[in-house]
Amino acid sequence: MTKVIDGKAFAANVRAQVAAHVARLREEQGIQPGLAVVLVGEDPASQVYVRNKHASTIEVGMASFEHRLSADTREADLLALIAALNADPKVHGILVQLPLPKHLNSDLVINAIDPAKDVDGFHISNVGLLGTGQKSMVPCTPLGCLMMLRDHHGSLAGLNAVVVGRSNIVGKPMAQLLLGDSCTVTIAHSRTKDLAEVCKRADILVAAVGRPEMITGDMVKPGATVIDVGINRIERDGKAKLVGDVHYESAAKVAGAITPVPGGVGPMTIACLLANTLTACCRANS
Ligand code: GUN
Repeated sequence: MTKVIDGKAFAANVRAQVAAHVARLREEQGIQPGLAVVLVGEDPASQVYVRNKHASTIEVGMASFEHRLSADTREADLLALIAALNADPKVHGILVQLPLPKHLNSDLVINAIDPAKDVDGFHISNVGLLGTGQKSMVPCTPLGCLMMLRDHHGSLAGLNAVVVGRSNIVGKPMAQLLLGDSCTVTIAHSRTKDLAEVCKRADILVAAVGRPEMITGDMVKPGATVIDVGINRIERDGKAKLVGDVHYESAAKVAGAITPVPGGVGPMTIACLLANTLTACCRANS
């Protein structure tokens, strides 16, 4: 029987643990972790994410600071806001929602965040620390995937892991984390030759390409664990539908375990953002 990995329940558990720790910090040390989220412009998907992040932050007892800036914000003004958040002791985590409007240099903006407050783990210092196996802030989505994989497998040592997708946000850090857990890691992408054959070697297959239902059952090794990072809005039979990068029906017939969309990786991302904010707060106060 294929196990459906319930990311929603897993994430609720992580959030409950974070909330308990936040309550203890408050009672014992009078400290409240705080997360600042910066949204530039009116991208509809980003607005939904930011709203959900705000609600989840409040729900676990943290302080939430939302900064909504107009789409034509000048880079200097955004950098000034980040400098102010870096200096604010009430703010332990800073997240600048991506994508930014085209006239803003995302690398410059992300690298202006204090690495200790970079709860996305996107700052170049955190990328380097993760790549060299040092203590860092770990990007939320790959961290959520790793937690579910560890929970399902116990040790990941020696397993063949294939990550489809090479983004800085998911693919590359996911590969680093799996390598850190002693997997044999392959990064595949849109230019990979014989993608089906590469995927079929995977004990762990992580799909993060951003193409609806691209990974089909015939590309999955029998018994493999399939982690679907994709969130694609498509229209089918005249109705709006959310699908992953994995063709769920065919893959679920072959896989040993699989994450659904929605209700798989998605909820884990915000749970890990809260966990990272708590970590940043604890490190700042230790
Ligand atoms: N846009 C899509 N995913 C993410 C994420 O994990 N962090 C940020 N900052 N922006 C995103």
